[in-house]
Amino acid sequence: MDHFVVTAAADRHRTDCAIVGVYEKGALSSAAQELDRRSGGAVARVIKRGDFRGKVGETLLVSDLAGSPAERVVLVGLGASDKLSRKQYRKAVAAGLAIVLKTGARDVVSYLSLEKITQTDAYYRARFVAEAAANALYRIPDLKSAKKPAAPALKRIGVAVADRGDKANAERGLRQGAGIAVGMAFMRDLANLPPNICTPTYLANAAKGLARDYRGITVKVLGEQEMRKLKMGALLAVTAGADEPAKFILAEYRGGKTGDAPIVLVGKGVTFDTGGISLKPPPGMDEMKFDMSGAATVLGVLKAVAELKLPINLVAAAPACENMPSGRATKPGDIVTTMSGQTVEILNTDAEGRLILCDALTYIRRYKPAAVIDVATLTGACVVALGNHFTGLFVNDDELAQELLAAGVRTEDRAWQLPVADEYGDQLKSNFADFANVAGREGGAITAACYLAKFTKELRWAHLDIAGTAYIGGAHKGSTGRPVPMLMDFLLNRP
Ligand code: BES
Ligand code: MN
Ligand code: ZN
Repeated sequence: MDHFVVTAAADRHRTDCAIVGVYEKGALSSAAQELDRRSGGAVARVIKRGDFRGKVGETLLVSDLAGSPAERVVLVGLGASDKLSRKQYRKAVAAGLAIVLKTGARDVVSYLSLEKITQTDAYYRARFVAEAAANALYRIPDLKSAKKPAAPALKRIGVAVADRGDKANAERGLRQGAGIAVGMAFMRDLANLPPNICTPTYLANAAKGLARDYRGITVKVLGEQEMRKLKMGALLAVTAGADEPAKFILAEYRGGKTGDAPIVLVGKGVTFDTGGISLKPPPGMDEMKFDMSGAATVLGVLKAVAELKLPINLVAAAPACENMPSGRATKPGDIVTTMSGQTVEILNTDAEGRLILCDALTYIRRYKPAAVIDVATLTGACVVALGNHFTGLFVNDDELAQELLAAGVRTEDRAWQLPVADEYGDQLKSNFADFANVAGREGGAITAACYLAKFTKELRWAHLDIAGTAYIGGAHKGSTGRPVPMLMDFLLNRP
């Protein structure tokens, strides 16, 4: 896909398709007014006829407007005038692009960026168009035997800016938006694959593929023998029942100065979570193929960072295994020694994410990270607390919390902070080991974070519980690509 910035007015730029806004009660945006004038009032007539009301996200495709240099015009509703929020803007852009993709248009220009939109600038307006277009073009790597429908014709995406001075910012926005979308698509592909294909070995090979495709990325994969040498007792306990070999993926990107401390991202890579001996009930168990979404996130972010050649050092670490029942599987009551030396009584084998993460979090200390962020579909309790809209954020450093929250707001990939407090940690008490891996139903997302906190002392650390946000169930089941946008925005805006 090519991207470009348009500085000419809508009635002067030749395109296959122009996306222009119309407010409620028929007030035309400036670009719509220009096309209206050019076409002898044709746009106003459409509205007068009552064919278009201007509700946010409403769309109407108008072909062959007489005199218009745009072959097609997509009218997009913007809602009540002068009150276009960032969210409304995003909704309008997505709706406009959805219609364009159904047409034969090979290039499109969005003029919605010219409107008054609160809390955005030319950079973000453009960036979102590139991101939205790529996400609309995303196709699940499905294994349906029927012939695939033809891909949309769209090849070039343009964004209008009012001021020539904004051109460079908009261009940067388009480029970075496209890069972020590459990372999201990478994550979604991995997460959408079935668990018999996307195994720990498959994830490791995907990471090795990144090392082949991008300068600056190197990948190391540890096998079970190395995990034993490192005394990763918790990770090994989770994989004990599985026949698929576990892998610990360590992918590094060096774009910063040699001495710069890296940001380390740690992603949960359970490629299928049956619950183990604490077996999950059958309904919806297939969705536990998404339990590697954290690993897919950190690899997606790594790919996007390399694609954009960001001047930072980044490590993506992904402990990957299956959680299966078998005669060799870990049993409730088993006690293991983690790599940190702390012992854990595994009271519930379904609380496996924290077990693989704790050894990974101990391992990555050797990178002397500037900050560590783990990403995991960790608890159903987080979904109960925040639903499917906000990611759970847990953090031991206020500045890091603010940076991540702000990045979530800017990208509409939002997180909500929950406490990591001793009172909750105390619920993990065990009679037989240093602590247990579960602590009852109450505050389950928080007690899981408190468990991880026992392994991140003296680190600047954040934990993202993406159980509710990384994928959607139901008829449109699939990976969302979240929280790649939040993390990319965080990395792009680091002081
Ligand atoms: N992978 C699940 C968490 C999950 C649940 C993700 C629903 C997405 C949707 C995790 O391994 C798990 O099973 N957690 C348990 C923890 C409990 C045993 C303390 C849970 O949430 O029930
Ligand atoms: Mn589980
Ligand atoms: Zn799990």
